[in-house]
Amino acid sequence: MIKINNLQKTFGDTKVLKGIDLEVKKGEVVSIIGPSGTGKSTLLRCMNFLEMPDEGIITIGDTSVNASNCTKKEIYNFRKKSAMVFQSINLLKNKTALQNVMEPMIVVQKMPKKEAKDIALGLLEKVGVLDKKDSYPRNMSGGQQQRVGIARALASSAEVILFDEPTSSLDPELVGEVLNIIKKVAEESKVTMIIVTHEMKFAREVSDTIIFLENGVIAEQGTPSEIFESCRNERVNKFVNNFSFAGGNVI
Ligand SMILES: Nc1ncnc2c1ncn2[C@@H]1O[C@H](COP(=O)(O)OP(=O)(O)O)[C@@H](O)[C@H]1O
Ligand SMILES: [Mg+2]
Repeated sequence: MIKINNLQKTFGDTKVLKGIDLEVKKGEVVSIIGPSGTGKSTLLRCMNFLEMPDEGIITIGDTSVNASNCTKKEIYNFRKKSAMVFQSINLLKNKTALQNVMEPMIVVQKMPKKEAKDIALGLLEKVGVLDKKDSYPRNMSGGQQQRVGIARALASSAEVILFDEPTSSLDPELVGEVLNIIKKVAEESKVTMIIVTHEMKFAREVSDTIIFLENGVIAEQGTPSEIFESCRNERVNKFVNNFSFAGGNVI
């Protein structure tokens, strides 16, 4: 249901993505791991045209956009097919948790307020922050804010949720609660997810497929056990082991 063909992106004279090809099935959870500066965020940002690819065709569901030949309107409509959860929490500061989750349904989907509210309350419950529904972001912990961010992504009409290191700005003691919510959502909602993460234990547990991105190419791709247990690529083994011994990645 998601297909990326020959995605390329250059910044200045640095080629960051060197022709990425990827297919993700509906409901699949894919984790992208790899060294810092290797193009993981750029790949996610190109997938919803927050960053304009130089070349490539991206398909979500029944819609394709060819980066070399597309209109602003096509991009605008295509963006609605994915929702992003960023490393830095991106809630609207002057809106409560409930209003933040209702917003995409009212503004983008033009849903009646009552219906949006009912759905939003259900989503806040799902991510375990219903008691914070009337709180503003400044009065919530980072973990609670990020959980509201996940509810907000689920409230959009997106067919895929793109997570860019969703726990890396959180205090260590708050990481587990957010990872557990992402896991729960992955299991219960069958929503397609692409997750950039350095949390190896989490990636191993939640993912159907792991992608090791290195220097702008997919260097390895496989099931968690293929990547974590029986990978012949020494660089993958080294990377994965470094993180496993670094600690801080326990749920
Ligand atoms: N908007 C930008 N302008 C210029 N260079 C960028 C921009 N965004 C990312 N880069 C560069 O692209 C490379 C890949 O970055 P990024 O995708 O953020 O890597 P990762 O998420 O894997 O750490 C880095 O060298 C980074 O400095
Ligand atoms: Mg990044």
